Amino acid sequence: MCGIVGYCGERDAASILVEGLKRMEYRGYDSSGISVGFDNKLTVIKKKGKISNLQAALPSKIPGTYGIGHTRWATHGEVTDLNAHPHSDSSGKITIVHNGIIENYITLRKKLSENGVKLLTETDSEVIAHLVANFYDGDLERAVKEALKHLEGTYGIVAIHADEPGRMVGARNGSPLVLGLGEDEMFLASDVTAMMSYTKQVVYLEDGDIVTVDKNGFKTTDIRDNERDKTVSTVGWDIGEIEKEGYPTFMEKEIFEQPQSILRGMSGRLDIDQGTAKLGGLNMSSKDLRLVNRVIILAAGTSYYSAMVCSYLLEKIARIPCSAELSSEIRYKNPIVDPNTLYFVVSQSGETADSLYAMRELRRKGATVLGICNVVGSTIPRESDGGVYIHSGPEIAVASTKAFTSQLTAMYLFSLIMGRMRDMSMSQGKAFVDAMDGLPAQIETVLSQNAHIKTVAEKYSDCTSFFYLGRGLTYPIALEGALKLKEISYIHAEGYSAGELKHGPIALINEVTPSVFIVPKDSLREKIISNMKEVKARKGPIIAIAVEGDEDVAGIADDVIFVPEAHELMYPFLMVVPLQLFAYHTAVALGRNVDQPRNLAKSVTVE
Ligand code: AGP
Repeated sequence: MCGIVGYCGERDAASILVEGLKRMEYRGYDSSGISVGFDNKLTVIKKKGKISNLQAALPSKIPGTYGIGHTRWATHGEVTDLNAHPHSDSSGKITIVHNGIIENYITLRKKLSENGVKLLTETDSEVIAHLVANFYDGDLERAVKEALKHLEGTYGIVAIHADEPGRMVGARNGSPLVLGLGEDEMFLASDVTAMMSYTKQVVYLEDGDIVTVDKNGFKTTDIRDNERDKTVSTVGWDIGEIEKEGYPTFMEKEIFEQPQSILRGMSGRLDIDQGTAKLGGLNMSSKDLRLVNRVIILAAGTSYYSAMVCSYLLEKIARIPCSAELSSEIRYKNPIVDPNTLYFVVSQSGETADSLYAMRELRRKGATVLGICNVVGSTIPRESDGGVYIHSGPEIAVASTKAFTSQLTAMYLFSLIMGRMRDMSMSQGKAFVDAMDGLPAQIETVLSQNAHIKTVAEKYSDCTSFFYLGRGLTYPIALEGALKLKEISYIHAEGYSAGELKHGPIALINEVTPSVFIVPKDSLREKIISNMKEVKARKGPIIAIAVEGDEDVAGIADDVIFVPEAHELMYPFLMVVPLQLFAYHTAVALGRNVDQPRNLAKSVTVE
C-alpha cells in the first residue's frame, strides 16, 4: 500500500526520492508527492495518479539535499492532489509523510479546528503535521514525541522541518520503517527496495522506535527518551532482483524464476539419507513437534490457497488434523486456543494487517505461532515464535506467483518432517524427497510450453466468465488460478471443487463460459473426468491442465496444457504454473497493466 522514502545526505534529494518512489510503485498507490528542504524552506509537490504525473510537475531543478516522499493508497479522502502526502502544517515549515491509520483523527481534527487550525485535506494524516507544529519549540524530535502521545492507531511517520536542515525524525508503530545507512547519507523508507540502489546496510525499526537521523548518524529512542539499541543487517539480495532484467513485466519474470526460487527454498533443507527435512527456524525440538496434535494455518489471498494445499497435505501424510483459516475471520471468531495446537501464519510480505493482527490475538491467548514469510525483517517473522523464510527473492508484481510455490515448498518440508515423525516410512520419505528434488526441472518443462499457453489464453480472452475446477490437493489450485485471472485480467472467474459442480454452478454452464479443469493423475482423476463430460454435455468449452499422455482428458477437452508426470503430491506445483501463465497472457491480450492491476496493493497493511 502506501510507501515512504526519506533522504538526507549530500546528493540531489528530489531525484533520490523520486527514484525511491518508483521502486515502491509495485506496492500499489494512487498519488505521490515529495517535500525537499533548502535554504530554510520546504518545496512540496504532489500529484494524483502515476509518479510520471509527479515527475511532469517537478521543476527541472529542486535544490536541496534532504527531503521526504510518499506514494498514497487512499483510505481516508478521495484521490486528489491535495490529499496526497507530504502534508504540511499551517506555516509550511513542517512536512510529514504517514503510512497507517490514525483512528482518533476525527477528534484531533475537531480540537485543532477549535484552536483555529485550518485543515486543508480530508485525510487522517494531516493532523500529524499540525500536532507536531503545535508542540514545536526548536526541536523536531521533541515535537514529534509530544505529537505521538496524542495519536491512536498505526503509523510509520517521517517528519522534516525547514529550520532543521538535513535532519529527519521517523517513528514506527504498526507500519514498517527501515533505516538505510550510506556513506555521508541516510535513508528512511517503508520498504528496503526504495534505497537498494544506494545501500544494503539497514536497521529494521521496531514498534515504539523514534529515530532521529542526519547524514552522519542516527539515534533511536522511545517516547520517554530511553535509548534503544539497534542492530545493523545486510540485505541478502541484489538490486538486479528488483529489476525486470529483459522481461516485459515483473510478473512474467517472477513466473519464470520459479525453478530457481523453489530450489532456493529447499536448499540445505532436504535430508536425502533420512528421507526427511530440516527447518532450523521452527525453534521447536522433535519432542515439541511430537506433542502437536492439530495444526491451523492462517493467511489471506494467495497465501491462504497455499495454506489450503498444505492443510490437505499435512493431514494426508502426517495424519494430523489441519485446517487453513482466513486471517480476517479467525481474529474475530474469539478463537479457542488449545496448547497442543500449532499455528502458522503464511504471508509473502510479512506485513498483511489481517494476518498480523490475527497472529497477535492468538499469541495473546498463549498460542505458539510460527511464520512462513518472504520479506526478511518484516513484522510477522519478527513477532512470531519462530518460522521459515521461503527465500523466493523480492516479489514485485502485485499478483503473487513465485511466492506461492515457495510457500508450498516450505510447508511441504514441514509436512514431510511431521509425516516422517508419524505415518511415513523411510522409503516413502525418500520418494517424497526425490520428488521435491525433481520439481525445478519439471517446472522448466512446464515453462517451455509458454507459447502454447499464450495461444490458448488468447483464444479465450474475450470470454467474460470462467470456472476453475479441481479436487483434493488441486482444489486450492483451482481457487488460485481463478484469483490470478480476476486480479490481472478483471475477468470474472470462480474456483470450485469439481465435486460441487452439480450442487449449483452447473446451471451457469453454456457455450461461452469456459471451464478450466485441473486433472492430476491421482485417485480422483476418474471423478473429474466425469465432471468434464457433464460440462461437455452442456456444450461448455473445456481447457484442461492434465498429465502428459492423458489421452482420455485430451479426448474430451477443447484445449489441453500438459505437465510432466510426477509424484501425485507434487501436482499442485506443476499445475499452478500453467494457470499463472494463462492469466498472464489473457491480461496481456486485453492490454491490462499486469504488474499493477487496478485497485490492488501488494501488501494490504490496513484491515
Ligand atoms: C496475491 O496475488 C494477492 N495480491 C493477495 O491475495 C495476497 O496474496 C494477499 O494480500 C496476502 O498477502 P501476503 O502473502 O503478503 O500476506
